[in-house]
Amino acid sequence: MQDGEGQDMKIELDTIYRRIVDHLENGTTDMAADSIEVPAAHFTDTDHLARELEVFRRQPLAAATSMEVPEPGSFVTRDILGVPLLIVRQKDGSVGVFRNMCRHRGGKVEQGDKGKKPFFVCAYHGWSFKGDGSLRGVPFEEQYGTLDKGCRNLFSVEAEERHGLIWIKLPQAPQDLSLADYLGEADERLAAYDIERLTVFMDQKIDLDINWKLVMDGAIDVLHPQFLHAEGVGKLIQTGAAVWLDLGRHGQSYSARKRLARKLKAGEPIDKGFRYLTGNLMIFPNMSVIPTPDHIEHWTVWPHLTDPGKCHVHIRFLTDPAKLTDEVAARINRSWDILRQAATEEDFPMEEMIQANAAALPTTDFLYGANEVPTQHLHLQMAREFEALT
Ligand code: FES
Ligand SMILES: [Fe+2]
Repeated sequence: MQDGEGQDMKIELDTIYRRIVDHLENGTTDMAADSIEVPAAHFTDTDHLARELEVFRRQPLAAATSMEVPEPGSFVTRDILGVPLLIVRQKDGSVGVFRNMCRHRGGKVEQGDKGKKPFFVCAYHGWSFKGDGSLRGVPFEEQYGTLDKGCRNLFSVEAEERHGLIWIKLPQAPQDLSLADYLGEADERLAAYDIERLTVFMDQKIDLDINWKLVMDGAIDVLHPQFLHAEGVGKLIQTGAAVWLDLGRHGQSYSARKRLARKLKAGEPIDKGFRYLTGNLMIFPNMSVIPTPDHIEHWTVWPHLTDPGKCHVHIRFLTDPAKLTDEVAARINRSWDILRQAATEEDFPMEEMIQANAAALPTTDFLYGANEVPTQHLHLQMAREFEALT
């Protein structure tokens, strides 16, 4: 982070802090123009899902973090919207993203999740590929007949590394779209988190019987901690007093820690008020980045390709290895325990109930109040993207 940017961010945090204090003192919250109604069918309808997937395929999508592939030969494999990918750090430090698809007859050339290899060997008939995707060797090559080895390299996928994330662009994405333009006002916020220095401390992949948007809603819902998490995060985070920064297709919500409300009430002096804030940067369509003092909580939520009632959630806790003492590790593990308990025992079960109710009565609608401006955003932005498709 450059000094100038840091100052800007600090000044802005001071402003957000003042807005939150104002809300806490007046019992108010940031408001949208009005409430909106979202059809329950948006969570259950296969045609709706198909259009959402069209939107997804047009966006740059964060497939991995930079530090997941730290050295030449380091790789991870991912399945992004049904496209198997092999992501490999190159000798020149750049990143190569390839379809994880053997150019003989389509096997996966790498079946592991992550690791470091000088080359990749397809398990079916032994073809091997270098880290740069070029075909390296073909057993029984002389027996194949016509085989133009130069035309049988792995297919590459357009990718860009920015702010510590490896973004891919599927062929459907507009070719002239730069990542900086795509991120727009969210660009410097993502930059401020220094993700390029952070390693993965904890990595969880969860398949759920829930529409992807309900999980995204739950992650940014500022109106529920006091109720659904009464004994957990509801005790730590103030409910219903939030600031929302509209960043075009993206956005960021801030809530106050309860300690701030208590200190204000007691008239105690508050030093560096923004320390008492918690923020959630939502990058459209499916990423949530939540900074905490010791780590960054990073979520991506992926729709199922055919079933609107299913999704795949990938949660990573990212941390600075230079600051990772035993004490810090213990604190991060405690944070994970709190999140795991809240998510798996409270959020996901509630979202499963909502999914079942939506499926049972798709003709109804759900209300997102004017006071629920962060949760409104995803649905309004998706509607704008649908308009752009037609
Ligand atoms: S499919 Fe990979 S070697 Fe045959
Ligand atoms: Fe929650």
